[in-house]
Amino acid sequence: MTIPVITIDGPSGSGKGTICSLLAAELKWHLLDSGALYRLVAFGADKHQISLDDSEKLANYAQNLDIRFEVSEPNPNTGATEVAVILEGEAVGDGIRTEQCGNNASKVAAIPAVRTALLDRQRKFLQAPGLIADGRDMGTVVFPDAKLKIYLTASAGERAKRRFKQLKEKGISATVDGLVREISERDERDMNRPVAPLKPAEDAHVIDTSSMPIEEVLKHVLNLYRQIFI
Ligand code: DC
Repeated sequence: MTIPVITIDGPSGSGKGTICSLLAAELKWHLLDSGALYRLVAFGADKHQISLDDSEKLANYAQNLDIRFEVSEPNPNTGATEVAVILEGEAVGDGIRTEQCGNNASKVAAIPAVRTALLDRQRKFLQAPGLIADGRDMGTVVFPDAKLKIYLTASAGERAKRRFKQLKEKGISATVDGLVREISERDERDMNRPVAPLKPAEDAHVIDTSSMPIEEVLKHVLNLYRQIFI
């Protein structure tokens, strides 16, 4: 029997992360946060002083990445779980969630040999009863045979506002204008790289979440899931 997978791709701030963890909790499926892998390569490169221009060393580091994900018990109210990321035996905490790390991740992700080095590791997440795969190329490259592919998008302004709110909650200062600039630069790099650029798979359902509450997006995706898998 083939193990089912739902791919959720899209730019940062499109609501992917939230939808993916809610879906994984609802269906009790595994979750692949592929962005975390690219962020870990960028984070580890900084730790080991590997230059972001040194493709060979970065690919070698990515190939041998020593990581573990520890999933928490579900939150009794929402059912959502938290995932602790352990790099080389140490929890990285929010260290991989900064804007700087996201930008560096986008740079290392543009290196073809880094992407190849992470491919098998991502596919190994496909385990019963099913997988929610969150990223940029889940439906186009990593799981091209997925029966349900979603592409979430939202305007850069709306995504910057969401990011601003998240950062404010964490006590990190930023401006919406600065975030619009950073988000647009990152989109530009992720969408225009020669290998596995961010784009909807031909058979993806494209959902613009600019003016949709998260509950509505979740309902829509669950309806598609029921039509396709049940
Ligand atoms: O989803 P995220 O913000 O954690 O991803 C960080 C960067 O990693 C993103 O700007 C591009 C890259 N990435 C990628 O190229 N392919 C993926 N499947 C996931 C992330």
